[in-house]
Parts: sequence; C-alpha cells; structure tokens
Amino acid sequence: MSFRRKSKFNLVGYNKESKKVISWITAYDYAVSFAAEEAGIDMILVGDSGGMVQLGYSTTVPVTMAEMFVMVQAVRRGAPNTFVVGDMPFGSYEVSDSQAVENAIALVKRGGCDAVKLEGGKRMASRAEAISKAGILVIGHIGLTPQSVSQFGGYKVQAKSLASFDSQVEDAIALEEAGVSAILLEAIPKVCSQAIQNNVDVTIFGIGAGGGLAGQLLISADALGLYPNFKPKFAKNFFAEVVSSAEAPATALECFVTSIRLYIEEVQKGTFPDETFSYPIKDDELAIVSTSKYWS
Ligand code: KIV
Repeated sequence: MSFRRKSKFNLVGYNKESKKVISWITAYDYAVSFAAEEAGIDMILVGDSGGMVQLGYSTTVPVTMAEMFVMVQAVRRGAPNTFVVGDMPFGSYEVSDSQAVENAIALVKRGGCDAVKLEGGKRMASRAEAISKAGILVIGHIGLTPQSVSQFGGYKVQAKSLASFDSQVEDAIALEEAGVSAILLEAIPKVCSQAIQNNVDVTIFGIGAGGGLAGQLLISADALGLYPNFKPKFAKNFFAEVVSSAEAPATALECFVTSIRLYIEEVQKGTFPDETFSYPIKDDELAIVSTSKYWS
C-alpha cells in the first residue's frame, strides 16, 4: 500500500438535504489520524473520549485542556488536510461565555482545529452563540452527553419518553438558533432521531442514533478494537472484519486504513449503522413519544 494525501472537506455548505452522508471518526494520536486521512474520512473528532480510550480514565470528566492540546496537535500532525473538530472538555466552558470563547479560540489557535464541539442544548446555547460570534464553527452535542453522565443516572438511551424527546427537540432548536454549524445526537433510537432532524435545518450527525441522518460519527477505538472495557451497542469493529479476510494488509497501520475505508463505504451506502448497531424503542414507548407536538 502506498500512502497519498487527500484534499480537505469543509462542513460549511452542507445541510440535511446534501446527498452525501458525511463520515466522521474520532482520533487522538498520530497513527490513527494518519490512517483516517489516508482512508479519505471527511472529518476527525479529537473527542474527550480520548481521556478514556487513550489515557485510561474511567470517564471523560477528568480530561483537561492541556491533555486536549497534546491529542489535538498530534492529530493535526497526522492529518494535516482533514477537517478536525476539537472537543471542549468538562470544565472548559461551563463557567461563563467568555471562558468558553477563550478555550475555543485556544483549540483553534494552539490546536489547529477547524471547529469545536461542546455538550449541552438549551443550557449551553449562550456558550455556543458566543463561540460562533467569535468566528468559530461550533457543533452542539445532545442526547446522551457523557460529561453529565451522573445527571442521567448512567449511560442511558435518550428521547424514549415524551418529556425526554421534547427536551431533545427544544435543545436542537435552541442550538440552531444559537448559530451552530451542526448538531450531534448520541444514543437515541432511529425513529426519534429522524423526528428531531425534521424540526431543524442544521446538519445532524448521529452516534448510536441510527441511520438516515446527514452524517455519522464512530469512536476509532471501537472501529479498530482498541478499547478493552465498555462496548456500546453502536460500536462496530471494522478491524476484526479486515484482519479476518484473506487479503488482510501486512501492517497494523494498513489494516487501520482499510478498516476506516470500510466504515466510510458503509456510511455512504447507508448500511452502517443497521439495526444491530442502533438502539431499539418499544412499541408502547413509541406510541407515547409520537404524540409529541414536535413529531413529524
Ligand atoms: O468525546 C467523544 O468522542 C464524543 C463522542 C462520544 C460523541 O463526544
């Protein structure tokens, strides 16, 4: 395999009507980001999930800006031509709008990020608006937001009750009004994600939110089988498929590239995520949620 660089994708200009489904994967280091760019990924997220899968913390809560800089800068070196999103770690934006703007600027200036992501809907709309007004692309993250997992009482699927669904739609609307460039939905049954998407014009990504959205995100440690602990339902191990084939590449790096390429192909064909990698909703739960004034 010979390595060749690809051109840079830009989130701006996309909307939910765009035909191509956007493929997005996390990376935290040089090798995986290099492989992602080589495979032709549209976007990379340097997620604070790196705190768990790369640094070994048991949650994302302890991750600091200093740790984010190390990961973001390594990713930028590995993927110089890819659209990179830097995650705002817990404690870097909660205090005030100005704290959020300062740290978002740092991720762009010191980290070389093209955009930032933060968790929270209505409660963080003023942060998203302040960052956007500073000239930085912002992605809002709603549904299950791991930084506030203790408030959710664990890693629980969202939008399965009427109150939770309505609250997710209101979060999405608040973020859109705040000027975000995209919204990421996490851990929501497919039919509910679609209904949330129908309430806004902004680009919607999903992770554990089913197919049929404008874009998909996957954790690289799940795609490549690099994390020994928690395995969410949406975690598809593409690496296992690649290494078990007769034409498996000779090096781990080449297998990473082939695995990420497979992920991109499946996202674009719409075969990932299928039912196996999506959260179900029971008929009686759906009957109640679909009475929402936001359901369409
Ligand atoms: O940090 C991260 O990778 C994330 C995903 C879990 C959505 O925020």
